[in-house]
Parts: sequence; C-alpha cells; structure tokens
Amino acid sequence: MDKPFFIDPNIARAKTIDTSFYLETKWLEASKEKIFAPSWQYIGHTGMVPNAGDAHPVKFLENYIDEPLVLTRDGDSHIHCLSNVCTHRGNLMVYEPCSAQKHLRCKYHGRAFHLDGKFISMPEFKDVENFIPENNHLHHLPLYQWGPLLFTQLQQGLGPELFFREMETRIGWLPIDKLVFDTSRSKDYDIKANWALYCENYLEGFHIPFVHPGLNAFLDFKDYSTEVFKYANLQLGISKGDEHCFDMPAGHPDEGKNIAAYYFWVFPNMMFNFYPWGLSLNVVQPIDEGHTKVSFLSFVFDESKLGAGAGSGLDTVEREDEEVVENVQQGIRSRFYHFGRYATQREQGTHHFHSLLADFINQ
Ligand code: FES
Ligand SMILES: [Fe+2]
Repeated sequence: MDKPFFIDPNIARAKTIDTSFYLETKWLEASKEKIFAPSWQYIGHTGMVPNAGDAHPVKFLENYIDEPLVLTRDGDSHIHCLSNVCTHRGNLMVYEPCSAQKHLRCKYHGRAFHLDGKFISMPEFKDVENFIPENNHLHHLPLYQWGPLLFTQLQQGLGPELFFREMETRIGWLPIDKLVFDTSRSKDYDIKANWALYCENYLEGFHIPFVHPGLNAFLDFKDYSTEVFKYANLQLGISKGDEHCFDMPAGHPDEGKNIAAYYFWVFPNMMFNFYPWGLSLNVVQPIDEGHTKVSFLSFVFDESKLGAGAGSGLDTVEREDEEVVENVQQGIRSRFYHFGRYATQREQGTHHFHSLLADFINQ
C-alpha cells in the first residue's frame, strides 16, 4: 500500500486528514497494529494489585484489540504484566481479581506458573517429547510505571521516554506517587463518534469560547497555548485570576503564570489533565468506526482542592464536547465534506495529531 494519507508539515498549508480515515473500517482495523500496538496504553494502577500475591485480569483496549492480560504482584512486590492465556490450550488463566496467590494455576488442566509468568509444572506431560518449559512461560509484557499508573505495549520498539518524558519533566514536582484512584469520581462515557474525532477536539482550545461557556469564564483564552513534542503535546490552561491555580516551585519555567490546568495528550489516545487536586486521566477507546468509549479516571492527591477551578464541572465540559463531536461525526459522513484547514495559532495540537496518524498508518 502506498501512502494513503498526507498532512503537510507546514500548518499554514496543511489540509486536515481525509474523512475516509474516520469512516472506513479498514483504517480502524489497520490502526490496531499500526497505531495502537506500538503505543503505550494505560492498563491499570498499582491499587489493583496492592499486595504480594494479587492478580488482576485486564483487557488491552477492550472491545477493540481485546488482548487478555493479567497484572500480578510477586513475593518481592514487583508488578508484572503477563499474557492471561495459558500456554497449554489457551484457557484464560485468571478469571477475576484474586489475592494471596502463591502461583497461578490454570483451571483447565492444572498448568502452573510463578507470579512473574515463569512455567512451574504441568500434569501428565512426562512423556511429551521436545517439551521445553522455558518456551512455555506466560508471555511477559513490558511495563512502565509512573506513580501509581501502569502502561504496557503490545509491540516493543518505541520506548516510554518518547511518550512521557516531557510531561514527567514539566510536572515532576507534583506528588505523583501520592495519587490515589477515586472510583466515585471516575466514569465511562459512550460516544457516538470515531475515537479520532474525540481526540482532535480535545487537542485544540479554539472551541472553548463557543462550546464551553463555564470553562471559558474561568480560562484566559488569549493566553491559552499549545506546545508540541514528539509523541505528546501540552495545552496550558491559564486562569483569568490567580485563584485555584498551581503553586509553582521557585525557578520552575512556569513560575509566575496562573496555571489552572496542564492538559497533556500522549499519542494516540490518552489525556493527562493535571489540576491542583490531582489528575483526570481520559482514555479514549475505539469500539467501531462510529463508537468510542472514553474513561474518565480520577486520581487525587489533594482533596481540599476538589470542586473548584478548571478541574471542576468536568462532567458538564465532557457533555459539551460529546455533543459537538457527535455532530461532527454526522458531518464527516457528508458527500460534500472531505477535509478542512487549520487555524495556525489555535489548532497546532490537532495538526500534530493528524500528522502522527498519517505517519503511523502510512508505515
Ligand atoms: S489450558 Fe491451561 S492447563 Fe490446559
Ligand atoms: Fe472541549
């Protein structure tokens, strides 16, 4: 296949990605291997396996890639991300979260593995010829941990630093290790739109005055800015006043700015929204060309700051985004619309996203 998508690196000349990207099943299928498998995906947090002997099954992009994985914590308190598929005849190993496990034993024919995935034993296999236990471990996936957040990658290659480094450096002074997952403030949204439309909407603040009156009353639109990195970017939400802003440490490059929110996006589908109270992590999960699940996951490090500023009313802001994105989904099906253009000072994040989509899908 030659290169089906092209985004001009010069935003002033560029056209937005062709609407076939959102509409045709083949591109959503191709995105599994070309975009999502080599990327780092959020798969859970340390609170899911708090103690040695814990095991917690998860799916890598459920209802899309659906790869069965399991998080375990071994006797030395190391966390592992393993394939949750038995190497005998493919049964799932762990059906539901469990604790106090010395090892993992398959419920089908009893094959046993250490909590790091290494093969231990198998009944009735003494006469099996050329059976090499070392080739029958549970597949061990790379795991990247940042504070309590856990990420993995199906196709090894691009290191986590390429995706996370700028974010970690920029807000490394925040107490990331103290983030605690808050179920009551977390929620999934079903969006009747393509996953990429949801992301590209997030990637520009251009729509804030039109779509988010509440947020717009609080943020200073003229100071809203975007910084583009290799596989991530940052939008700085600057407040009109100095209330409900971060207390910057002395000497920080952002010292003196009234920052109400750091909106980091990590390719292809994760949004890390930092507020003075903690993190709202949004994970955008494709289901089919016109359906997406977006998980809003709240991790709190300072409860006293909840309920105020840019990091309050997130549900309202989400509904406003959802409505406009679902309308765009209808619009891109039009026979009269195939691409648009970018506002050079307001849509750098969206241009960055489209450029990466084209680069990855063209590979
Ligand atoms: S499938 Fe696991 S022991 Fe047979
Ligand atoms: Fe929005």
